[in-house]
Amino acid sequence: MTGGLARARDLLRLVFTGRGRRMWQAVSYRLYSNSASVGLRRDLREPHLAPAAKRPFQVRPLTSDDDLAWLDVREPGLSDEQVYARLGQARLLASGLQTCHVAVEPDGQACYMQWLILSHQNDRVRAFFGDLYPRLAPDEALLEGAYTPEAYRGQGLMAAAMARIAERADQFGARWVVTFVDEGNAASLKGCARAGFVPYLRRHERFRMFRRFVSFTPVSRAASSGTII
Ligand SMILES: CC(C)(COP(=O)(O)OP(=O)(O)OC[C@H]1O[C@@H](n2cnc3c(N)ncnc32)[C@H](O)[C@@H]1OP(=O)(O)O)[C@@H](O)C(=O)NCCC(=O)NCCS
Repeated sequence: MTGGLARARDLLRLVFTGRGRRMWQAVSYRLYSNSASVGLRRDLREPHLAPAAKRPFQVRPLTSDDDLAWLDVREPGLSDEQVYARLGQARLLASGLQTCHVAVEPDGQACYMQWLILSHQNDRVRAFFGDLYPRLAPDEALLEGAYTPEAYRGQGLMAAAMARIAERADQFGARWVVTFVDEGNAASLKGCARAGFVPYLRRHERFRMFRRFVSFTPVSRAASSGTII
C-alpha cells in the first residue's frame, strides 16, 4: 500500500473511532496549507560526543520480538494527537522501509524508535513519501520516524539514541546522515542539535486541493550555526 492510501485508511479510522476533529484537521491541511521543515545533517567524519540519556540503553535494529505496545491506539485516555502520531509510526512499520532501529533498556524493553534508511532504498522512499526527501547519494543516509513513547519522554533519549543510530550508517559507507523536522517541533529540533545535526536545507511544503508541492532551499552554514539549541 502506498503512503497516501495508508494515510487515507488511517483518516477513516479516526472518523470511526470518534476522532473526526483530528481527521478534519488533517484534511484541511491537505486542502490548503503552507509549511516548512528544517533539513539537518551530520557529517560522521566530524567528531561528536554522543550525549547521555537519563536511563541506560543500547541501540539495535528492531526485531519481531520487540514489544511496541506503546503504539497501541486503543489505549484508554489518549489524545487525538497521540493517536495520530501512533498511527503514523504504525504506517512506517508497515511500509517495508528498512531499517527501523530501537533503543532498548537493559531488560530488553524498547524505549525509542527511528529508521535509518540507506540510499539503496531511494525508490521505496519515493513510493512511500513521494517527493518529500531529496534522493539520497550513495554516501548519504536518512533518519526518519523518530519516536519516544510518552512514558519515556524528556529523559534525553531522542538525542542520545539518534546520535548512536546515526553513527551506525558509517559501517554502510555513508558519511552524511540527514533528517527533516517540522520547524515547529521544538523537542525534535533540540534532540537533533544535541545529536550533532546542523541545518543545511529548508523544505517548503504547499498543499492545494490535495496536491503537494515540495521545494528545497539551502541554508548557509553561517545562518545555521548555533541557531537551534
Ligand atoms: C520529539 C520526541 C522524539 C522527543 O523525544 P524525547 O526522548 O522526549 O527527547 P529529549 O528527552 O531528547 O528532549 C528533547 C528536548 O525537547 C524538550 N521538549 C519536549 N517537549 C517540548 C515542547 N513541546 N516544546 C519545547 N521543548 C520540548 C525537552 O524538554 C528536551 O529539552 P530539555 O532537555 O532542554 O528539557 C518525542 O517528543 C516524540 O516522540 N514526539 C512525537 C513524534 C515526533 O514528533 N517525532 C519527531 C519527528 S521529526
